[in-house]
Amino acid sequence: MASNKNKLVQAAGRARAGAVAPYSKFQVGAALLTRTGEIITGANVESASYGLTCCAERVALFKALTAGQKDLVAIAVVARWAGGPMPCGACRQLLAEYAPRARVWIADSANLKKIRTFTVPGLLPSAFVFDKEAA
Ligand code: THU
Repeated sequence: MASNKNKLVQAAGRARAGAVAPYSKFQVGAALLTRTGEIITGANVESASYGLTCCAERVALFKALTAGQKDLVAIAVVARWAGGPMPCGACRQLLAEYAPRARVWIADSANLKKIRTFTVPGLLPSAFVFDKEAA
């Protein structure tokens, strides 16, 4: 049976098909795993006003959060790129805020079995978080 890691990476690979990327043609899929074992996926959506583009990671994260899924234990990100696509700075910031303890699993869609693992603090050290308790 496939491990959680393999299952999540496969889900991210399938989610790529939902990408709306007419400008870059670079399709990215993401899949989040909740503590209770649910999987929420997303893919990148681009705009003619390029800066409005939303990455796959953020689409998946916004779907999860707005569905009330806040206990996120892992995120997988897949695209056709050697070694897999690394999350951009904006996505790292949101992961630091909403999924700080999540494992980050990255893979190339051409080789879903080769998975690289990162942590959110590893990707974004000393992140800015607005902690009301600490204020
Ligand atoms: N993109 C993502 O969706 N996630 C990443 O981790 C890297 C970049 C998207 C944004 C844009 O639609 C396309 O890839 C090219 O930058």
